[in-house]
Amino acid sequence: MKEKKQYYLHTFGCQMNAHDSEKMAGILKGEGYERAGNPEEADLIIYNTCSIRQKAEQKFYSHLGRVNVIKRKRPDIKIVVAGCIAQQEGKNLFNGRPYLDALIGPRNISKLSSLLDSPFPVTALEENNIFESNKIAVERNGRVKALINIMYGCNNYCSYCIVPYTRGREKSRSLNKILSEATALAEDGYKEVTLLGQNVNSYRGECSFPELLKHLDKIPGLERIRFITSHPKDFNDELIDAVTETGKVCEHIHLPLQSGSSRILNLMNRKYTYSEYLDKVNRLCKSIPHLSITTDIITGFPSETSDDHQATVKALKEIEFDGIFAFKYSPRPNTAASAMNTQVDEDIKSERLAEILAVQDVITEAKNKELQGKTVELLIEESGGSVCIGRTRTNKIVTISSYKKPLIEGTVLNAEITRSLKHSLEGSVL
Ligand code: SAH
Ligand code: SF4
Ligand code: F3S
Repeated sequence: MKEKKQYYLHTFGCQMNAHDSEKMAGILKGEGYERAGNPEEADLIIYNTCSIRQKAEQKFYSHLGRVNVIKRKRPDIKIVVAGCIAQQEGKNLFNGRPYLDALIGPRNISKLSSLLDSPFPVTALEENNIFESNKIAVERNGRVKALINIMYGCNNYCSYCIVPYTRGREKSRSLNKILSEATALAEDGYKEVTLLGQNVNSYRGECSFPELLKHLDKIPGLERIRFITSHPKDFNDELIDAVTETGKVCEHIHLPLQSGSSRILNLMNRKYTYSEYLDKVNRLCKSIPHLSITTDIITGFPSETSDDHQATVKALKEIEFDGIFAFKYSPRPNTAASAMNTQVDEDIKSERLAEILAVQDVITEAKNKELQGKTVELLIEESGGSVCIGRTRTNKIVTISSYKKPLIEGTVLNAEITRSLKHSLEGSVL
């Protein structure tokens, strides 16, 4: 019998969720819990869920059978569903699942302790409750890179997207809280921070987003600053200037395009055309040498024709992204696009996705090849045993195959790219 209470926490979805899990882990540590290696050993099981696509939801639901078995053997354990599925489904999740004890939405993470003290079943799903991570020790996943919320929620209502319904209205964190969190992280030895928001360009704390970057750039000890995600509609020259004027903001931008067809972009409620997007990309590349740009693409959005799809293929070839995340469109409850009566066949979505991925593969491979023989700045992220992994400022992972002295996590150094493979790079430390 273990002395301390044990918790098992499984996280699905994006970095917002990963960071929410770090906060829940911090709360549980404060309550005297220890992390368990598997759910069978735990007194408390938490699933931090994602509902961005049906596949993400299914991953969570497929875990429930096992949980039900565990609970039958040990009825005293508690099972909590957190995150976007909890918020989206609410109390309906309890129907037919008597083994679930509590639901906690993304805006109510701070209530985890009081929730666990309440009689079950219980929920914390109210609007406008936002967790302030400065108040609590966040139990972070690594010692080199850290995530910081700069804003919560989303007001954009892209017609396919569930996030505005699960994460609520946009709310910016105050500048002081962000700066003091980043300063404390730097003092703790963290070298890199990633600023999190669904649409970081619309940050409205006591300053604008570009000003926030300039403030963070001055924090001693920090080496790198990243941010996700930028919405193309709000991406402006002031931000381009901030990236060029600051030393620590990395030369990588994730700028989700979604589609190369302006007709589809309009139906998606993205509020930019393809030519406006292209114009911003051109300005970015002109101002920031060696910039890497990555994107998200959705295939088979309602009414997408073969011509619309080819417009996306053409966009990939024209822009030559460093990397993409591409997904089949997945209808989400209550969203405008799910009600459109022009849904595309699953087979066609798959065919188009395969073509998009194949086109991008060739581009990624060629881009990686260009790096062969070049010297890049790496932040060492892992140096366990014989494997040593670094990351370029442009967000590319490099496996270090030869080095003279042992490499220490958190060190910034120069390396030569010795080999480029389809999906990875190898380097040697000079
Ligand atoms: N806030 C970010 C994106 C968050 S979701 C932004 O606006 O850029 C991450 C990605 O998931 C999106 O960029 C989109 O490409 C994809 N996505 C969101 N909803 C989807 C859906 N219903 N079907 C398929 N992909 C979806
Ligand atoms: Fe979803 Fe659009 Fe908001 Fe991104 S900006 S989270 S895609 S609604
Ligand atoms: Fe993130 Fe998934 Fe929610 S992508 S915001 S955890 S729906």
